[in-house]
Amino acid sequence: MPYRLNSADETQALGRRLGETAMPGDVLWLHGELGAGKTELTKGVAAGAGCTEPVSSPSFALIHEYLSGRLPVYHIDLYRLEMDDALDLGLDDYLEGEGLTVIEWGERLPPGYFPDGVDVELTFVGTGDARQAAMMSRGPAGAAWLDRVTAASSGQNAQRER
Ligand SMILES: Nc1ncnc2c1ncn2[C@@H]1O[C@H](COP(=O)(O)OP(=O)(O)OP(=O)(O)O)[C@@H](O)[C@H]1O
Ligand SMILES: [Mg+2]
Repeated sequence: MPYRLNSADETQALGRRLGETAMPGDVLWLHGELGAGKTELTKGVAAGAGCTEPVSSPSFALIHEYLSGRLPVYHIDLYRLEMDDALDLGLDDYLEGEGLTVIEWGERLPPGYFPDGVDVELTFVGTGDARQAAMMSRGPAGAAWLDRVTAASSGQNAQRER
């Protein structure tokens, strides 16, 4: 079931839930057109992981590291990646490390590169601020993460109903 996100704040709130429930080594693959809200979602992810630094798009640096939270957050934007440079990035060190890695434009990576994690596809809905998010797991680690997101959400709802 896709989530409807009516505002940038709602997109950040979904990101916060992902950040709050992430475990070391989790990988978040963000998809969607320019301006769909991938970086906006990442702001929430970093905040949910407890990072207090302001999050900005790593379009030029390719990688921003946020280290002030309960686990390191590596925010990677491959929009400007040339295929030949992919190997120089040291991406595996991030993906296999103890942090939470968030990747925008992972489509730029060579085919066949498909580590476990969660995919989020953001799409525009209509002409205003609304977006839709579909989340899918790539493997067991991603599935376990989505289970934690669901458990955290239903916990929040239960609290609200009390
Ligand atoms: N529901 C929404 N979710 C996310 N962003 C929204 C929403 N409504 C409006 N916005 C605005 O849309 C813009 C999304 O930009 P953002 O940088 O997050 O996109 P992006 O997917 O990372 O694009 P790029 O591929 O260029 O990196 C922001 O200016 C944000 O404030
Ligand atoms: Mg972005």
